[in-house]
Amino acid sequence: MHAPILIHWIVRTKQSRLRLGVIFGGVSTEHEISIMTGLQLIDTIDTQRFEVVPIYISMSGAWYTGAELFQLSYFKGLPGVLSRAREIALLPNPQGPKLVFVDRSRADKGMYRLEESESLNVDIVFLALHGTHGEDGAIQGLLKMAKIPFVGSGIRSSAITMNKYVSKVVAAANGIPTLPSVIAKKADFIKNFKEAYQDILSQDLTFPVIVKPCNLGSSVGLNFADTEAQLKQALVAVFKVDEQAIIEPRVVDLTEINVSVIGRTNPRASVIEVPLSGKELLTYEKKYMAGSGSKKGSKTRAGGMANLQREVNSTRIPETLKEEARDLAVRLFTCLDCAGLVRIDFIYDNQKEALYFNELNSIPGSFAYYLWVQSSPRYLLTELVNLLVDEALEEFGMQETLAQTQPFRALR
Ligand SMILES: Nc1ncnc2c1ncn2[C@@H]1O[C@H](COP(=O)(O)OP(=O)(O)O)[C@@H](O)[C@H]1O
Ligand SMILES: [Mg+2]
Repeated sequence: MHAPILIHWIVRTKQSRLRLGVIFGGVSTEHEISIMTGLQLIDTIDTQRFEVVPIYISMSGAWYTGAELFQLSYFKGLPGVLSRAREIALLPNPQGPKLVFVDRSRADKGMYRLEESESLNVDIVFLALHGTHGEDGAIQGLLKMAKIPFVGSGIRSSAITMNKYVSKVVAAANGIPTLPSVIAKKADFIKNFKEAYQDILSQDLTFPVIVKPCNLGSSVGLNFADTEAQLKQALVAVFKVDEQAIIEPRVVDLTEINVSVIGRTNPRASVIEVPLSGKELLTYEKKYMAGSGSKKGSKTRAGGMANLQREVNSTRIPETLKEEARDLAVRLFTCLDCAGLVRIDFIYDNQKEALYFNELNSIPGSFAYYLWVQSSPRYLLTELVNLLVDEALEEFGMQETLAQTQPFRALR
C-alpha cells in the first residue's frame, strides 16, 4: 500500500465519527458514471463528521472495500486490480453483523467463508449507484431488510420512478402534464408478435414517435420512428435491452429543462438547467475555440467544455417557464414520494408552448451539485451530504417506531 493512501485511510478511520458507507459501481450500464459520482461525493465529504467506508460493487455484482477504492486511477486497472481490495458481503439479518469479509482462499475447492468475527458496520449508507439495482428499489430493499439507514428514495418510490411509463401514470393521476404514452411488453410480443403489434397500432399513436426502454437511462436503445415499419424495428431494438418499451409522440422542436429537488418535509427546487444538444454543443465549441489559440487557452478548454454541456439557469428560458418547471418539480417530488436528492427532467414543446414531465432520476449523476451551487439558498456538495444524511437518519428513526413485529400467536 502506498503511504499517502495509508494516511488517507487512517485519517478516515478515526473512531467517534459517523461511519458513512458510500456504495458505487453496480451491475448497470451506468457503472462508470457511478464510480465518478461516488468518488466525487467521497472527495467532498466532511471528514470531521464522517468516517467514509467506500463500497464498490463490481460489474459482476461482487462487493469490495479498501483504501484503494478512494483513487480514481485504481479503476483504470479493472478487473485485474480487484484482488487488492477486500471482498465483503451484506447480510440482511438485522440482528447480526451486516457487512462481513469474504474469505475465498479455498475458492479452488469451491468454498468460501464469511468472516463474521470481522465485520465492518456502517451507521448509514449513501447510494451513489445509477440505473439497474441502484435506482430501482433493489438495493433499497436489501438495506431496509438489514435495517441500515440510507440516503434517498425508498423501495416503492425508487421502483416507480425507475419505470418511465409507471412514473408518468402516477404523475398524470396527480394532475401533472405528461405526453400521452403507450407501453409495449416484450412478453406479449414473445407470445404472439403479430397480435401484440396490432394491439399497439390500434392505440392512439401519432407519428412521428419516439420509442424508449422503460427501465433504462443514458439514452440506451432509444429510437425515433416515422412509420409503422420503423416502429416495429424500434420495438425489437428495445426488447434486446429491456422488457418494456414506451412509445410517445416525438416532440420535434423541443427544449429540455431539468430541475433538482431536495427536502422530504419541505421540498425545494434548484435553479433549472438546459442540457445542450449535439448541434448546440457544436456551435458552442466553435464559439469557444474561436477565442482561444494559445496553449494556456487549450488547457482551460477541458474544464470549460465540461461546463458547456448545459446552461444553468439559462437566460433563454423566460422566468415564468422556469417557475412553472420548479413548481411542477416540487409537486412531483411529493406525489412520487421521493427522498434525498433527485433530478426531474421536463420536455418543453416550443411549438405548442407546453411543458411535460419526462422522467425522474432518483440518483442523478454528480448529484446535480452544479445546480445547487447556483441556487438560492446555495448548497455546496459537502453541505448537501450533511443535510441529506440528517434527513435520512430522521426518517429512519420514524420508520423504526412503526416497525413493530406481531407476537407469535396464530400457530400456537
Ligand atoms: N417525446 C420526445 N420527443 C423528442 N425527444 C425526446 C422525447 N423523449 C425523449 N427525448 C430525447 O431523448 C433523450 C433521452 O430520453 P429520456 O426519456 O430522457 O431517457 P433517458 O435519459 O433515461 O435515456 C431526451 O433527453 C430527449 O433529448
Ligand atoms: Mg433523460
